Amino acid sequence: MKICVVGVGYVGLVTAGCLAEAGSDVICVDNDRKKIEGLKSGVIPIYEPGLTEIVKHNQKLGRLHFTTDLKHGVDNSLLIFLAVGTPTAKDGSCDISAVLAVAHQIAENLSDYRIIATKSTVPVGTYKKVTDLIKSKTDTPFDYVSNPEFLKEGAAVEDFMSPDRIIIGTNSPDVRRTLKHLYNPFMRKSIRILFMDPASAEMAKYAANVMLATRISFMNEISALCEKLDADAELVRRAIGSDSRIGSAFLFPGVGYGGSCFPKDIRALIHTGSELGVKMTIAESVQLANINSQLRFIKRITDYFEGRESNTVLAVWGLAFKARTDDVRESPAIFCIKKLLESKMKINAYDPEAASAALAALDGKIETFKSGYDALDSADALVILTDWQEFRNPDFELIASKLKKPVIFDGRNLYDPDVVRNAGFEYHSVGRKPNLPTQPQNKKHES
Ligand SMILES: NC(=O)c1ccc[n+]([C@@H]2O[C@H](COP(=O)([O-])OP(=O)(O)OC[C@H]3O[C@@H](n4cnc5c(N)ncnc54)[C@H](O)[C@@H]3O)[C@@H](O)[C@H]2O)c1
Repeated sequence: MKICVVGVGYVGLVTAGCLAEAGSDVICVDNDRKKIEGLKSGVIPIYEPGLTEIVKHNQKLGRLHFTTDLKHGVDNSLLIFLAVGTPTAKDGSCDISAVLAVAHQIAENLSDYRIIATKSTVPVGTYKKVTDLIKSKTDTPFDYVSNPEFLKEGAAVEDFMSPDRIIIGTNSPDVRRTLKHLYNPFMRKSIRILFMDPASAEMAKYAANVMLATRISFMNEISALCEKLDADAELVRRAIGSDSRIGSAFLFPGVGYGGSCFPKDIRALIHTGSELGVKMTIAESVQLANINSQLRFIKRITDYFEGRESNTVLAVWGLAFKARTDDVRESPAIFCIKKLLESKMKINAYDPEAASAALAALDGKIETFKSGYDALDSADALVILTDWQEFRNPDFELIASKLKKPVIFDGRNLYDPDVVRNAGFEYHSVGRKPNLPTQPQNKKHES
């Protein structure tokens, strides 16, 4: 099938690469000239496991092309995917101006029947706005389909190749058949395509993201209570997660959710509700609980170093909003670091992939290091803000030898408190009382 993907970011590039991998011819269009030039010469602009190999392989086979020329994409494809950004507007609503701008351009270049499919997350009713806009500019026939994307950054290729479900929002039987055909290669085990009307498809995306964020915020509030009551949030998490009615996903206590989707999608749903007179009380509370979980974690650190903030150096492990991505958009790590910098602490940070994006987001106000251990030298504590796999089983002896005093503030609950305590650390995690070391600290650590 001949496909055009407009917007070559986390969603667009993965979509394009995976569709090409399954045999489609894909033209990728983006208005970021530098990004397109880079991609043409093999520079993959984002870190996403498995993506580089797929993009390079299909580029070599001639199934994946990159251009800034939307007309070329429209002329040479049956199906046009919109995967441009939909950030938060000033009033909290979802800014769909990029979607509308692309729709406008498509309309101007439409000379034959096309299917226009939106992968971007857009408020309910966008299908109508886009359809009306294109119809007002051209008489050329087209169909519109809402096809929201559910991939997770860090596992986006896996998710695309083996999705939990594909949502196809259109009332046209022909378009349903075409999309089913397109997604068939990714449905080898069982067909997981849900057909519905476009409004329900648009709503399903928001409902899914707010539901997932709700679980995280709920667990973080329970964790706050656990800390007060001397209960262990990790044990509580396992207890409730083993209930088949609840399940274990998205229940990890920590510094809260972030990323390019949950925060903005929650804001957009709240805004949609307020416009229609439906108060989204759960979404509002989820947002508040998330901020509170970040502030609680920061307070533990600032309380600990109270009065000596300007002499405090923190080694931070993790800058990305979650593991396996270089994305720092609305990352809890960035939020926490900004607050710690405001309290005059110095930050020496390490992240396997997100250091340069974080440096840009923090205006170069932190120092970054090539390894987690290098960031520890003479720091007053280790602070963990992202759950990268490589942080999970570190050399505790080496960490202790580099820190001024063996103290860990773990915003992702990566360690068994007994193990860390036995290694001589003071260990602060989320939803559990602080753990003091079982062994006396050595002379260096006492000073
Ligand atoms: N990132 C995720 O995990 C994820 C998951 C599901 C859904 N989504 C949704 O998918 C959409 C895209 O998200 P993303 O993270 O890939 O965004 P992104 O910022 O990584 O990529 C968007 C791309 O669109 C391009 N673009 C913007 N305006 C354009 C225009 N007028 N013409 C051509 N290109 C244009 C940008 O240059 C950029 O390369 C958003 O609506 C998002 O909410 C994202």
